[in-house]
Amino acid sequence: MDTRFPFTSYPRGWFQVAWSDELPPGGVLPLSCFGKELVLFRTEEGVAHVLDAYCPHLGAHLGHGGKVHQGILQCPFHGWRFNGQGHCVEIPHAGRIPPGAVLGAWPVQELDGALFVHHAPEGVPPTWQVPALPEASAEGWVLFQKKQWRIRTHPQEISENIADPTHFRYVHGILSISEATFDAEGPVFRVDAKVSQPTPRGPVDGRIRSEAHGLGYWAIRFSGIADVTFISAATPVGPEHVALRHTFFIRAPSQPGASNNVGKALVAEILRQVEEDIPIWENKLYRPRPLLSAGDRSIPMLRQWSRQFLEG
Ligand code: FES
Ligand SMILES: [Fe+2]
Repeated sequence: MDTRFPFTSYPRGWFQVAWSDELPPGGVLPLSCFGKELVLFRTEEGVAHVLDAYCPHLGAHLGHGGKVHQGILQCPFHGWRFNGQGHCVEIPHAGRIPPGAVLGAWPVQELDGALFVHHAPEGVPPTWQVPALPEASAEGWVLFQKKQWRIRTHPQEISENIADPTHFRYVHGILSISEATFDAEGPVFRVDAKVSQPTPRGPVDGRIRSEAHGLGYWAIRFSGIADVTFISAATPVGPEHVALRHTFFIRAPSQPGASNNVGKALVAEILRQVEEDIPIWENKLYRPRPLLSAGDRSIPMLRQWSRQFLEG
């Protein structure tokens, strides 16, 4: 391996590549993910597709100047036209389509305002899906904020961070995390922790339930302090870089005209905590055989679970 990490830079699984509102009907976006150039487009009917970016003709990037017409993506260079499965369906002024005129097509899942692509180095189709987030469509909940960072790290580090109860006190100044339980089941990893969060009015008790579906998707639910649920989606874009996207949903106040200042303050606090993690992630090395103490039992458990996404 020629990177900082003793495993592939590009794990298997579902990874967010955009928010839905970045791609209107008929829209085209270039993507750089998994060390590859891809093109994301949406038909006029609203269906999103992801294809390999470089045209099999003379190699134009379909994400830069490609246009959608009647559900078909047209190359900006000489107008070859590709459907959502990557097949060339028309070459202007030519009768015959060469058999190799096919682009790789990537599995796409769109839910809760986000677009996910399934990455498997061997092209093996997905065996599981990302679940819909109940809060994204629940009465009384609203999409409150979205935020994106580019960080020099690996999705594995971000998952280890979420499942690492002892760092919260030292990096983030949370008074205590107690009674954390961990559970791994197929592609799902769950953490359930009680927290005590400092506030201007003194410490407040709460609970954080986090649930991963692969290394690219964590749904994190705060309750007690305020009702905030967010998606933390880490997508490997290059050999050492991750695009991290957070999408926050908060419960709107039940009284009309009231404000949800506690929920909004908690979102600001979570964003502050990410900024605290970033210098650790960007500068640390990855120890395959760390020295562990009694509070660290979640780390070997998470690493055992994540091997299914990292190993061939
Ligand atoms: S390079 Fe795409 S049509 Fe020529
Ligand atoms: Fe953290």
